Amino acid sequence: MPQTRLIGLSLGADHCWPACYEAIVAKLDLALPQGADTVRFAVERVKVEPFDLRAKSRYDLVLDRITHWFPTTREWVKKLALDGVYVFNNPWMIQAAEKHTTYVAMMRLGFPVPETWMVPPKTYSDDADTQVAIRRYNTLFSLDTVGEAVGYPSFMKPYDGGAWRGVTKLDDVGALHISYNDSGSQVMHLQKAVDNWDIFVRAIGIGPQVNCVKYDPAAPLHGRYLVDRDFMDAAGWQTMSRYARVINAFFCWDYNSCEALRSGGVFHPIDFANACPDSQVTSLHYHFPWTVRSLVAWSLFCAYTKRKPQFNPHWQPYFDIADTDLPFEEKLQRYDALAHTYFDVDRFEEFRATHLGRLDEVCFEFFRSTRAKDIIREKVALLYPKHEIEPFTDHFDGLVKLWCKTESER
Ligand SMILES: Nc1ncnc2c1ncn2[C@@H]1O[C@H](COP(=O)(O)OP(=O)(O)O)[C@@H](O)[C@H]1O
Ligand SMILES: [Mg+2]
Repeated sequence: MPQTRLIGLSLGADHCWPACYEAIVAKLDLALPQGADTVRFAVERVKVEPFDLRAKSRYDLVLDRITHWFPTTREWVKKLALDGVYVFNNPWMIQAAEKHTTYVAMMRLGFPVPETWMVPPKTYSDDADTQVAIRRYNTLFSLDTVGEAVGYPSFMKPYDGGAWRGVTKLDDVGALHISYNDSGSQVMHLQKAVDNWDIFVRAIGIGPQVNCVKYDPAAPLHGRYLVDRDFMDAAGWQTMSRYARVINAFFCWDYNSCEALRSGGVFHPIDFANACPDSQVTSLHYHFPWTVRSLVAWSLFCAYTKRKPQFNPHWQPYFDIADTDLPFEEKLQRYDALAHTYFDVDRFEEFRATHLGRLDEVCFEFFRSTRAKDIIREKVALLYPKHEIEPFTDHFDGLVKLWCKTESER
């Protein structure tokens, strides 16, 4: 019996990766055997519209990018997941696990997250109940003492993070007071700066696949992800890959990125609740095709195997490892074994080998095509002034083609 697995792309302002994703899945044109059946794949962009809470879903898998921002979508994908549809990423774990939760959880597992304190907000609403609660329970505290406990330089940043909003570097207590006064009613963290770091890595995780990219936070937007393939030794790759995989398995996220700074040989993770990571060709350029290819591979695997959504995170096995006396490196290795099982790595590898043998070749052909360049141009035109459209299109297209060259020669 022929069957079609319908994949929904639930999108916001994303432009380039969905267009490439659709083109590659169409070019693959898979018809995969499954018992007596043949499984094909179709991709459709999800519309936001009223929904009946009892309606049956048409989708087999939804790749969701806008749960953060649109309450309708967030509630709709929760309904889908409850019906058994696999949704990237687990909507509950996006809503519940703010940056703060991820700091606390990974500290509990022994990750070298820098010293971090949470500070109560500077201002509150003046409604009567809030004021009573503050008078009763808010302890007067010395900001100077917290500043000293964390040490300088430090960063003050919102507990829920994202897009560098409200992040300030502090060199002394004077700057701390200015920043705290400016934070108003936001709940803030004060975090020790990782000093003297020599490598900034963003480890992008898609299912069990991880790409470690060198990052320069001081560069202009189009130059922050660097084209450098040999910036880290094998041990660094292994550690950062494990960080990303473990964090994603722990929080049931399929698509996320983990930022870490290496200082004194240790990778300190500083921001890893990025479950809607930048996926634009205008930022990722050289690394963009890897991202699209990995999204295709993982989503087809999940749709083909009818991967079941996991509703509740299963944390106790991680805590059991955390509570041993093993050194962190060994704990990390064991956490990664749990992540390996969670992401069904062996079956995924087998699926890739058996059914996606043409994926690389299709990606190379597509990313070298004029259609790919047109998509890049469309994206560039959305962001750049008119006179920069062609030069930047050539620039990003050149880096995408460089990936095809280096990747096909590996
Ligand atoms: N502890 C830290 N040490 C060094 N740099 C930091 C630290 N925390 C934040 N930064 C810098 O500030 C940037 C934004 O902070 P981040 O925690 O990533 O916030 P967001 O969640 O908004 O992305 C980081 O990319 C990094 O350059
Ligand atoms: Mg960040």
